[in-house]
This record gives sequence, C-alpha cells and structure tokens, in this order.
Amino acid sequence: MNNPNDPRIAQLNLPPGMIDFGAGQPSPALLPLALLKEAADSRLDGNDPSFLAYGTNQGDGYFRTALAGLLSEHYRLQVEADQLFVTAGASTGLDLLCTLFARPGDTIFVEEPSYFLALRIFTDHHLKIISLPMDAGGLIIEALEEKLTRRRPVFLYTIPTFHNPSSVTLGAERRKQLVELSRKHNFLIFADEVYHLLNYGPEPPPPPMASFISLDTVFSLGSFSKILAPGLRLGWIQTGPRLLKQIVDCGLLDSGGGLNPFTSAVVRSAIEKGLQHSQLATLRATYTERKGALSNALKEYLPESIRFVEPDGGFFIWLVFPEKVDTKRMLIEARQKNVGFLPGVKFSSRSGLNNCARLSFSYFDVAELEEGARRLSEVVKAHMNDK
Ligand SMILES: Cc1ncc(COP(=O)(O)O)c(C=O)c1O
Repeated sequence: MNNPNDPRIAQLNLPPGMIDFGAGQPSPALLPLALLKEAADSRLDGNDPSFLAYGTNQGDGYFRTALAGLLSEHYRLQVEADQLFVTAGASTGLDLLCTLFARPGDTIFVEEPSYFLALRIFTDHHLKIISLPMDAGGLIIEALEEKLTRRRPVFLYTIPTFHNPSSVTLGAERRKQLVELSRKHNFLIFADEVYHLLNYGPEPPPPPMASFISLDTVFSLGSFSKILAPGLRLGWIQTGPRLLKQIVDCGLLDSGGGLNPFTSAVVRSAIEKGLQHSQLATLRATYTERKGALSNALKEYLPESIRFVEPDGGFFIWLVFPEKVDTKRMLIEARQKNVGFLPGVKFSSRSGLNNCARLSFSYFDVAELEEGARRLSEVVKAHMNDK
C-alpha cells in the first residue's frame, strides 16, 4: 500500500515507516469495502436502472429522504428532504457556492486558523480573504462585529463544530449571534459541518448551523468523506427554499443533472439497511480510542510549554508551541525522524500561526500514534534546545 508508484493511491503517498500526523483521513482499514459491496449489490440487483440516468438537479429524492432521516436522528432536529441538495463532497459544494454567490474581488471572512484547502478554493475564485480571531469558544463575535463596522463580506466561512485544525466548537449563544449579524449586515454564512457527527464527548455539540436555515442566510455543508469514505465524493448542502432554488437552477446542473446519482443510490442503500449507522458507531469508537491514545502520549512525552486541548470530536489535535518556535522549520527535522505534521502557517490566511501544528489521529492506529508522539517529542526537544 505504501509504494509511491502504486497507481491505486491517488492523493496520499506515505513513505514506508513514516508516521505522518498530517494525514487527515481514515486509515485504509477503516474504509468500508464490505459495507459498500453489500449496499451496491442491493442497488444493482434491483430492476430499476434509473440511477444510471442523468439525475434530477437537486439530487435523488429517495436518497435525500434517507439522508434527511439520518440527519434528523443525529442532529436532534427535524431535517426535510427538500432542504437538501446533493453534492460531490463538501469541497465541490463550497466551490459551487463560491461560483454562485461571490464574484472575483469580493471580500469574504474566514476564521484564523481555517481549513487550508478551503482557503485554496477561495483563492481559485479570486476572493479577498479577511481573517477573524478565535478562542476556546470558537469565532470571537466581538471581533466580527468590529470588523463589520469597516468591511462587508459576501460570505463568512466557518467550521463551527470540531474545527479543522483547532477542534474547538462554536458555542450555542455565539451561533445565534453570528446568524443575527448575518441578517443585520446582509452576508451569507457557509457553515462547513463535516465533523458534526463525529462526537466523542459525553455531551452532544450544540445544534448545527443547519438549525438556522429558515433565516435565509445559512448554508450547512456536510459530507460522507468523514463518516463513510472520501472516495465516494458525496456530500450535501442544507439550506432554505430561496437559496436552494438558486443552486438548483444553475447551469452546471442544467447541463449535467444532479452531481452524484450513482453513488447516492448506493449510499441510500447503506443508510436504509442501517449500515451507515453502524459504521458511524465503529468510527466513533475507533477515533475515541485513537484520540485518547494520542492525547495521553503527547501529555507524557511533550514538554509542558506546548499547549493543546484534548478534543471532543473530529480528527485533530492543535499544538501551540512557545512563540519563538517555527514549526515549518521543525518539520524538516521531523521528516528525518520519520514523523510529520502540518505546520500552523498552512492554516493561516495571513502567514501567521508559525508556532502551531496540526496533528491528526484519524489515519494511524494506537501503537503508531504512540510511536509517532515519541518521535515527535525527540524532534521537539532537540529543536527547542537549539533555540
Ligand atoms: C473542514 C473540512 N471541510 C471539507 C473537507 C473536504 O470534504 P470533502 O471530502 O467532502 O470534499 C475537509 C476534509 O478534510 C474538511 O476538514
């Protein structure tokens, strides 16, 4: 699996023996081959080939009904099929929203830090990115209010629950305030909620931003990449009727039809047969164990001057080093010790966060995570002693 020349591996090519905490995706062992075979067999064995035709613009209604049921259960909120638009993953959803709701040169607001690949999408659309600070409770609303006195964004991009990379969750009260501000100052909210279902804490997270869609400023983006398999390229956007109509009427869909009829038909079976439900339980149990193992190993091995908070969900642990540490430089030394991470600067839209690093616990098993933490601690201690 680790041969870099292996044509089956598309995006992630890890050299043998490398424990790269930068890998923010499930391990191959967590990709549900048997589950998808069962789901696909049941769809392909039927006599209805309609999912092989061009699909309806909004996405297959049977799939959206099954998805609405799944979300209603996990969001503790009544989700309706007609609020959902089927995407080819959250990235495609974001790209489409940028195409439809922003113009080159428009100003947008993002969090600092933010998901680095969303920043790439915004750059592709030639948007002017302005960042807003966060604290342990997520986006700082006062900072947003202050910024709004001088700038008006077309949209604000947020990862409200189990943030990538910081893992923090926006509190319920701040969610309300954010939506009120979007109404008052007339901007849209692109809420990237792909980790909402991956909760490992005793308490569920606050209701998703999807609970505000009736107010007409919120798009909630979800994805099967984190709860089933990224290669499916399947996700959804949940929003109210006025905004949804603007998506469904677009030229891309008029030409190609709905974005993913075949895959959504297969995943519909997975949901209806309860397979998605059990996969989610497996993932939660596995990631809870991995998160605990990595957190404990980091507590044991890393110097106390390095701060992190054990997350309640998602994929990531965000390390904050003393100011003088440059994690991009440290990464060069880390690679020589067969360990990797993503340096904080990648998640900054203003070349900051140089003393931070993102570790993911989704890809490696417990023993590998512990070994990776040990290797990392050696690199960190050597690097910090050099200062
Ligand atoms: C916050 C966030 N949004 C979107 C994505 C990509 O989602 P998808 O695979 O559905 O395009 C990721 C994947 O890492 C992510 O962390």
